[in-house]
Amino acid sequence: MRGKFITFEGIDGAGKSTHIEWVAERLRARPDTGHVVTTREPGGTPLGEDLRQLLLHRPMHLETEALLMFAARREHIAEVIEPALARGDWVISDRFTDATFAYQGGGRGLSLDRLEALEQWVQGDLQPDLTLLFDVPLETASERLAGARSPDKFEAESRAFFQRTRAEYLRRAEAAPGRFRVIDATRSIEEIRVTLEEILASL
Ligand code: ADP
Ligand code: TYD
Repeated sequence: MRGKFITFEGIDGAGKSTHIEWVAERLRARPDTGHVVTTREPGGTPLGEDLRQLLLHRPMHLETEALLMFAARREHIAEVIEPALARGDWVISDRFTDATFAYQGGGRGLSLDRLEALEQWVQGDLQPDLTLLFDVPLETASERLAGARSPDKFEAESRAFFQRTRAEYLRRAEAAPGRFRVIDATRSIEEIRVTLEEILASL
């Protein structure tokens, strides 16, 4: 039986990376999940991680950025995601295509039609079974990031950029309520885990 594909999304500093390994461990403890693979985008393969370095640190044309996101994703799907799902493994990815729609589409203003064409080319019918959207106001995200790490190219973006990014994530969640769960990530880590546990129980 094919495994399930779960993605984590949210603006930088929302807190999604904090929960990924915990969710993976909870799933591994279940008898019905088998092997659980955790991965990330951009990245997840040796070539993808090289592309990540360029994407996070080198200035580039907006369309180059979107194309490289999808190039890294093509490799990720071919090398990691599809083979794992076909084996029956579960895959949890820290970001996937919703991030391109939110950041390059919402944040930077690239036409959603172009992104949809790339999505169709690169993914065909592949979509996550479940997308957890960690949602926080910008103030919370930037407070959390302030002490945590030095900003990369995206994290150094303006307030308005993240406002558009967050709005596009929420718009997508509303448009696909069967796939998305929006998590109020302003709460404590423990409270968020209770919600995550409920969501996992329904899988
Ligand atoms: P993301 O992966 O969404 O960018 P992280 O998981 O790296 O965010 O979290 C950013 C920072 O916020 C980290 O220092 C983390 O410890 C902290 N953090 C994460 N979740 C919470 C929370 N619910 N409450 C308070 N701080 C949090
Ligand atoms: P992430 O791994 O979440 O960063 P961190 O480990 O620092 O929390 O994501 C890297 C950055 O790449 C993040 O700012 C969002 C951005 N990104 C896009 O702009 N488009 C995409 O398609 C993806 C996958 C990520």
